[in-house]
Amino acid sequence: MSAPTTNESGTLRAGVIGLGWAGQQHMDAYAQLDGVELVALAGLEPDKLALLGDQYGVPPERRFGDWSELVAADCVDVVSVATPNNLHAPVTVAALDAGLHVLSEKPMADTGAAAQTMVDAARRNSQVLDITFNHRRRGDVQALKQVVASGVLGDIYYAKAGWLRKEGIPGLGSWFTQQSASGGGPLMDIGVHMLDMALFLLGEPDVTSATASTYAEFGPRGQGASAYGPWAKTDGATPDFDVEDLATAFLRLGGGGTLLLESSWAQWIPYDQCYVTLYGTEGGASIEWGGFPATYRKLGIWTQKDGVPAELTPYVPEDGQHLQAVTDFVSAVRAGANVEHDGSEALARARVVDACYASAAQRQEISLGS
Ligand SMILES: NC(=O)c1ccc[n+]([C@@H]2O[C@H](COP(=O)([O-])OP(=O)(O)OC[C@H]3O[C@@H](n4cnc5c(N)ncnc54)[C@H](O)[C@@H]3O)[C@@H](O)[C@H]2O)c1
Repeated sequence: MSAPTTNESGTLRAGVIGLGWAGQQHMDAYAQLDGVELVALAGLEPDKLALLGDQYGVPPERRFGDWSELVAADCVDVVSVATPNNLHAPVTVAALDAGLHVLSEKPMADTGAAAQTMVDAARRNSQVLDITFNHRRRGDVQALKQVVASGVLGDIYYAKAGWLRKEGIPGLGSWFTQQSASGGGPLMDIGVHMLDMALFLLGEPDVTSATASTYAEFGPRGQGASAYGPWAKTDGATPDFDVEDLATAFLRLGGGGTLLLESSWAQWIPYDQCYVTLYGTEGGASIEWGGFPATYRKLGIWTQKDGVPAELTPYVPEDGQHLQAVTDFVSAVRAGANVEHDGSEALARARVVDACYASAAQRQEISLGS
């Protein structure tokens, strides 16, 4: 275990690289935590840098353009990486090698190989590396996790997880829709949240093989752009779009289970549809949410008690989301828990995503080993 990192006063100095929606969630979280000071920001938009720097009281000399300037400035103990996906690995490896602990946004990286370099750097430097899977910190997911752990559902042999957007390509032509910057479309962007949620609920089974198909039916025609959020709708007829806008996968799990995973940015459906469904020998459960944007959320658990069909209504705690992800990261840093927090769980997800893209390209099942 490495010693907890703090400055002389015991305060953890935090930096955030990336000024978009995601980076701002990390800024908000650090600003709320006791014993943590947000002291540095980096991002390519000077106006936003000035605005956010003022908002969070970051001194002008610690507002950087390129990420490398922040890492080289030796002014933080921990850093969040909320840049386009292809920068997660190079920024994280450089930051870990500079002695910082890192919380990277999801997806871990644009490829499994890049994700592996992040884990290697965390281990080499005995530093904490966490990846922000905020959805698993939601109250309904935490409640269902407890139900699964109690054994009420018996052996879960089948699961389905999906996030299908009606009209939600995040900026046609933005880095999200360009393979070289994002590494992929909705599977990389939102499918990975559902993969994480499902594997978390299932108790981290190995994924032994993947069979997947991908499609790009909306983006290349300039259709399906997000109608909400910070990403402006564009009307470009030939947008930069060389990723999928729908991915579907059949994943075999160690122990014989199966997980179906689907994700899309645009579909002819009435509203966004998101779900995780678990099928066990003694009970079943599902979390569903949807609408446009989310207008409903349902947690259902079905089993039997003494031969009588029963529905459980567990206590659902408040959502954790980004604040909880940042809190957990800071706790791991303070505890010096770099062995349990070396990014390896997220690497397993990155390898599954890789296998799905390889399967789709080769139109055959891809083995992930044992
Ligand atoms: N966990 C979640 O729920 C969630 C939600 C949205 C996005 N994300 C992830 O967060 C990341 C960022 O997404 P976003 O929507 O905020 O993107 P964005 O495009 O709004 O912001 C990206 C930021 O990265 C900065 N950046 C790019 N190159 C840089 C460089 N060389 N040096 C310093 N900064 C640089 C840009 O200036 C910009 O401020 C992505 O990986 C995305 O997948 C996660």
